[in-house]
Order: sequence, then C-alpha cells, then structure tokens
Amino acid sequence: MSLLANLFRSSIGRKFLMAATGLILVGFVAGHLVGNLQIFAHPDKINGYAHFLQSLGPVLWLVRLGLLACVGLHVWAALTLALENTAARGPEAYGVNRWLNAALASRYMKHTGIVVLVFIIYHLAHFTLGAAQAGSFKTALPEYVMTGGFHLLGFPVVAQGQVVHDVYSMVFLGFAHPVVSLCYIVAIALLTLHLLHGVDSMFQTFGLRNQRWATGLRRVVLLFSLAYFLGNLAIPGAMLTGLARPAPGTTAALKLAAAAVSTSAVQR
Ligand code: HEM
Repeated sequence: MSLLANLFRSSIGRKFLMAATGLILVGFVAGHLVGNLQIFAHPDKINGYAHFLQSLGPVLWLVRLGLLACVGLHVWAALTLALENTAARGPEAYGVNRWLNAALASRYMKHTGIVVLVFIIYHLAHFTLGAAQAGSFKTALPEYVMTGGFHLLGFPVVAQGQVVHDVYSMVFLGFAHPVVSLCYIVAIALLTLHLLHGVDSMFQTFGLRNQRWATGLRRVVLLFSLAYFLGNLAIPGAMLTGLARPAPGTTAALKLAAAAVSTSAVQR
C-alpha cells in the first residue's frame, strides 16, 4: 500500500490526518482571534486588516479552499474512526466505568464537534455572506437600510481615502442583538471544550505526550484554551454589556451601531 493510501485507509493514518488538519484549524482559529481583537482599536485597524485579506484575491480563495478541505478531512476521519471503534467494541463497551473514566471534554467530542460545524455555517452566513444579518439587524435596528455592495448587506466606509468593507460596524451591529451574542458565547465555550481535548490528543498522536512532557503540555493546552475562550468572550461580551461602544464615526452604520448599543444598554 502506498504511503498516501495508507494515510487514508489505516486507522493510524486517519488519526494522523485528524491531528494534522486539527493543528491547521487551531492555527486558523488562534490567528482569527488575534485579528478580531483589533475590534477594540480604531475602526481603521480591523477594516484595514479585512481589506488586506480581501485584496489577496486568489490567494485568499486558495486558503479558504484549504481550510474547507481541512474541515472535511477532519470530520471524515473522526466519523470513520468512531464508527470503526463502535463496531470493534460491541455493545458491552458502553459500561458505566468507561463513561466515568472519560474526562468531560473527551466524552463530548462528537457533540461539541457537531455544534462547532453548525456554528461555522451560521457564522459564514452572518459575517462572510451577510445573509443571516437581515433578521437580527431588523429587530435591533428597524431603521436599518440595506446598502448592497460587496457584502449582501455591505457597509462601505472611507478609511484613509479608500472605500473599504466596514467590518468594524458589521461586528458591532452583529453583536447588538443579545440572542446572537449569547449564541456566539455558547458556541465558543463548546469550541473551547473541543480544543481542550483535541489539542491534547493531537500531541498524543504526534508522539509528544511522553512521560517527561505530559504535565507541561497539559498546562500549555489548558492555558491556551483559557486564553482562547476569554479572548473570544471579550468581543460579544463587551458589546453585550455595553463595556465596548463603537468609536464616534461619521458613517450611517456606525451611528446605527452606537444607537443599537445604547438602546440595548437602556433596555437592561
Ligand atoms: C467573537 C468571535 C468572532 C468574531 C467577532 C468573528 C468575526 C468574523 C468576521 C468579521 C468575519 C468576516 C470577515 C470578512 O468577511 O471580511 C469572519 C469570518 C470567518 N470566521 Fe469568524 N469570528 C469569530 C469567531 C469565529 C470562530 C470561533 C470561528 C471558527 C470556529 C470562526 C471562523 C470563521 C471563518 C471560517 C470565516 C471565513 C473566513 C473567510 O471568509 O475567509 N470565527 N469572522
């Protein structure tokens, strides 16, 4: 069997595929968080960053396709391995002891994985396509007017003399709706739980979790997961509580975002 066929057919090969694609996806979510935290700086910061990514054109599409392939392979490997494990173990494997011995995060890998998948689909419809924005924006901001443009509900803004996509206002408006923000917080908590066990077992698959390193690696994974959760929580959390307010600006979208945040703060 060739090396490539072995990678896809053997269970060790698929475990490796799952760990390698998981590593790439962890890199993406960590980088995405660092990029998103620019929401707390001047609007030009995150808008300039989003504009830079958009300007990559075909390279951006290659990265997107690569990420999609990673998600597909990761899910496929997890599914086939889980099915084979169940078939090999038989019914008595579901004994109480096994259940009690497994840590919370590892016990719910399938469930948290499914929620993360559903979240990604919603998130793409929310921020990348803008398709899921209409409902939440109309509730929070009845006066909101569709502007069209690059995005389905585009927010063009002039930053440093150049018209760019206004990601800053889009995120503030997106999180102006408390139900949307709460859904993000729950999804991020479950994603963190998924990472907690996933990164740990990735080290195991790569043969790095030996006796010498196990404790240290576990601490690194715990710290990383905590920082990841708090960083992500900060964005909808700060907007939901009114701790972060949109910077005073001149665009219609920013004014609406400011109005939405103060309205939801008054309602509370
Ligand atoms: C508070 C948390 C988050 C915020 C504020 C946020 C914000 C955004 C924004 C604004 C975009 C669209 C960028 C654009 O069209 O210019 C985006 C795209 C995306 N986000 Fe998030 N995100 C968050 C969490 C996540 C998480 C946890 C994941 C993964 C599980 C994720 C995965 C993605 C993906 C895959 C894209 C599409 C990237 C692309 O179109 O190239 N995001 N996010």
